[in-house]
Amino acid sequence: MLTERQQHCLRGIGIQAWSQRADTLDNGPANRPVVEIAREAVPQAVENPVDSSPQEVAAENPVVRTPAPTSFDSWDSLIDAIHGCKACELGDNCTQKVPGVGDRQADLLIIGEGPGHDEDIRGEPFVGRSGQLLDRMLAAIGIAREQVYITNIVKCRPPNNRDPRQDEAQQCRAYLEAQIEQIAPKVILSVGRVSAHNLLGSNQPVGKLIQQMHKLPGTEIPLKVTYHPAYLLRNPSAKAIAWQDLKLLHQMLR
Ligand code: URA
Repeated sequence: MLTERQQHCLRGIGIQAWSQRADTLDNGPANRPVVEIAREAVPQAVENPVDSSPQEVAAENPVVRTPAPTSFDSWDSLIDAIHGCKACELGDNCTQKVPGVGDRQADLLIIGEGPGHDEDIRGEPFVGRSGQLLDRMLAAIGIAREQVYITNIVKCRPPNNRDPRQDEAQQCRAYLEAQIEQIAPKVILSVGRVSAHNLLGSNQPVGKLIQQMHKLPGTEIPLKVTYHPAYLLRNPSAKAIAWQDLKLLHQMLR
């Protein structure tokens, strides 16, 4: 007799689990017990499906990578493409994609680095402690979160909050470029090192990049670099410099 488990495995590979007929009980070679034949037919991995580790399963079923599209018919198709993205491994491990939030016709576009733990859970950028500080910084110049658009260089949370890799940022670039094109902001605020380095193609320290006004390369859009709110939480003395950046931004938006 086949056990429940063996029957389940057989069904899984499309073999019907028949039982031995009473009139075939002599031991001729053509009449070997069904269970023996079944055992030969069932490959080891299928016989013990629950024993495969997630890594083994992933290795056996590699994700088919498809680069991000380069053009989008509409804002909705852009957001759908982000949600369905399989361009890099960040999307395999995050809880959900975090395309961005806010006014799609905003004058101010804020670009951070990538979702963290809270953003990954909520599906919205800058909602953790950094985000709360960012909201307060905006409020200080009379701007509500809903009046700006907020997004990140990468739309999926990098594991353990590591920096996004160059290739990951590159794969996500088409989404960001399409967002910038559709929003057509008056000013971009680039928060933190990863954002500034990616947007400006520079390796200079943020402390240096902060000192001058930039333009987003290839466009006429003014770009201001400022410290990341997470950095400001760790280094409150840098808030005075961030405040100067905000005041400048305020003037530009008037
Ligand atoms: N830090 C970022 O750069 N982006 C977020 O969305 C949250 C924290």
